Amino acid sequence: MYCLAIETSCDETAVAVLRAGKAGEIAVLSEEISSQADVHELYGGVVPELASREHLTNLPLITDQVLNSAKLKLADIDMIAVTRGPGLKGCLLMGINFAKGLARARSIQLIGVNHIEAHIFSAMLDNPELTFPFLALVVSGGHTEILQIDALSDYHLITRTLDDAAGEAFDKAANLLGIAYPGGAKLAALADQVTESRFSLPKVMREAEGFSFSGLKTAIALLIDKNRALIEQDHQVLCELCHAVQNSIVDAIVFKLQRAVSETGICNLSVSGGVSANKELKKCISRIRGLKAYYPSPLHCTDNAAMIGHLAMMKQRNGSLRFAGNLDQELLVKARWPVEEVQ
Ligand code: KG4
Ligand code: ZN
Repeated sequence: MYCLAIETSCDETAVAVLRAGKAGEIAVLSEEISSQADVHELYGGVVPELASREHLTNLPLITDQVLNSAKLKLADIDMIAVTRGPGLKGCLLMGINFAKGLARARSIQLIGVNHIEAHIFSAMLDNPELTFPFLALVVSGGHTEILQIDALSDYHLITRTLDDAAGEAFDKAANLLGIAYPGGAKLAALADQVTESRFSLPKVMREAEGFSFSGLKTAIALLIDKNRALIEQDHQVLCELCHAVQNSIVDAIVFKLQRAVSETGICNLSVSGGVSANKELKKCISRIRGLKAYYPSPLHCTDNAAMIGHLAMMKQRNGSLRFAGNLDQELLVKARWPVEEVQ
């Protein structure tokens, strides 16, 4: 059983081919992720219209590449899985319409996948030993949420961000500090060059129900204004500011995570999304007593198509998959699609 998976929810065009073996084991045969970071860098953030056009150009090329390296043809594919949402509407449309074209031309069954749900299970793709129930921390450029995952399609939201996502907070702080887009990982690398900081930023909304990072942005802007000359002259000062930003964001995430662990008593955790690559976050999570954290491989931390195909194949394995029937009426874009509403 072969699955072609397509992901175009934001600024990465990704395609993968996966195989489910006779015992149900799922393997990624080949995958490609084409980042558009250089296209959007000039604008300091993702420009949706440009991202859509890039997807349109990249999709046929990458699909060919991935099929070739798996030594397969489209005729060998049994199902296509495509990201249906959440994400940028125009970008999602590119992936969905491309997938529909292939599915219709070759009479291949098509399934639409929730991007966040796929992130949550990406930890299982690389750690099949992770079992239910588990907590899921999703920390990406567009999402920050903690959920309780009792089984496939049985999810309970514990908390989520009220405004900016953690990755967005990293990127916006980086932008204020003059670090090129996407600045999250670069800011983290600078932060890790020092072990202490002369600056301190407020603890972010520790006691509130949800996450909120928008106040942090204002606090950083004020701090930068006050220390502009110092930052420009001294690399150490820049690193210390990055360190303070990283600590503040990580503290907010870990505080709420710790609370979720003590309230639910669940001791397994899946961490996913781009910010799960953050070393300080990993270190702090590893210190939470009684919690075993599972991470996707670095390639599958950020947006990728393997996680889309993997989730579709997991659902196929447990018999809960519903393929689209009439492709004109079904599988429409769901730009907003909270994961706890997935059926
Ligand atoms: O999951 P992802 O690839 O895309 C979305 O679905 O949003 O996450 C991208 C986000 C960006 O905001 C990026 O700055 C952030 O993840 N990121 C990091 C690190 N690596 C990526 N943030 C903090 N530390 C990192 N090491
Ligand atoms: Zn994502």
